[in-house]
Amino acid sequence: MQEKINELINEINSFIANDFKDAEEFRLKFLSKNGKVSLLFDEFKEVAAEQKKTLGKPLNELKNLAQNRLNEFQEQFAKTVEKETSGNDYTLPGDSYQTGGRHPLSLVRNQIIEIFNKIGFSVADGPEIEDDWHNFSALNFPKEHPARDMQDTFFVEENWALRTHTSSIQIRVMEKQKPPLRLLAPGRVYRNEAISARAHCQFHQVEGFYINKKVSFADLKQTLLYFSKEMFGAQTKIRLRPSFFPFTEPSAEMDISCMFCNQTGCNICKQSGWVEILGCGMIDPDVLKNCNIDPDEYSGFAFGMGIERITMLKYKINDLRLFFENDIQFLKQFSKTI
Ligand code: PHE
Repeated sequence: MQEKINELINEINSFIANDFKDAEEFRLKFLSKNGKVSLLFDEFKEVAAEQKKTLGKPLNELKNLAQNRLNEFQEQFAKTVEKETSGNDYTLPGDSYQTGGRHPLSLVRNQIIEIFNKIGFSVADGPEIEDDWHNFSALNFPKEHPARDMQDTFFVEENWALRTHTSSIQIRVMEKQKPPLRLLAPGRVYRNEAISARAHCQFHQVEGFYINKKVSFADLKQTLLYFSKEMFGAQTKIRLRPSFFPFTEPSAEMDISCMFCNQTGCNICKQSGWVEILGCGMIDPDVLKNCNIDPDEYSGFAFGMGIERITMLKYKINDLRLFFENDIQFLKQFSKTI
């Protein structure tokens, strides 16, 4: 048995380990349950009592030698693994993502859509490059109307322009679908205006219209009152002032009670207590005819509002240009708003 011990001592001392795998092989070969050292211990149980006295000590030393070698190997390779990954602490929490938020104009557009959805309006769409018919002629714009002038409208080529309002979508829908129609048409529009805090060459509108048998001005007024209260609070009052649009008759502009000063007068309402938010009216019978809808059978109302205007009032924003500058400091303020 002493001979076997000596052999194993040599074997253990001459074992070369280059990596973790070798260290594991060493463990299996000598120290596992069926390893050479463990098997010697099994044999030891069988030897005569007086031999145990002399063999016990070297056998234990053998075991310690093997265990120490194994520890050395494991430590050595653990260190190299550590070295390779040094500098990285995988227990640290990850960097948080910068999440974006919805643009305030999208938030307000969605809110407008939601409010009108509740009373049965669905959403329609139309192109931003529009022909003369849909943007002007079908809507009763006379040939000499200033909107048809290069100075006010961006023409792409003769007969084609960037739409100046979303009213063109009324025509597109009426040409394809027959009443009853109850639709909302949000979109971007363009006008050749100098950019300032109060005007821009691009902005957004939402058009709404309802066409059915016996639609009256009272329906229009009640619809707009409902909208104003939902959008600006139950205390909101509305006021309709006579106005003119080529495609509605009669036409009106609608003001809401100033929410900034409670109608006591401030510089937002120019001391009047009222702020204008939209244009509206009963769809002109000639417009219905242009789309093959019989004005003797059907009538309808329409309204159009600027989304920027509503957003500025809702969030007390005083410069229109902020909507188009993509300034993160500005936009971040809305990221928590749904
Ligand atoms: N299209 C008009 C504008 O851009 C608004 C409007 C829409 C007026 C519908 C009446 C009816 O100013």
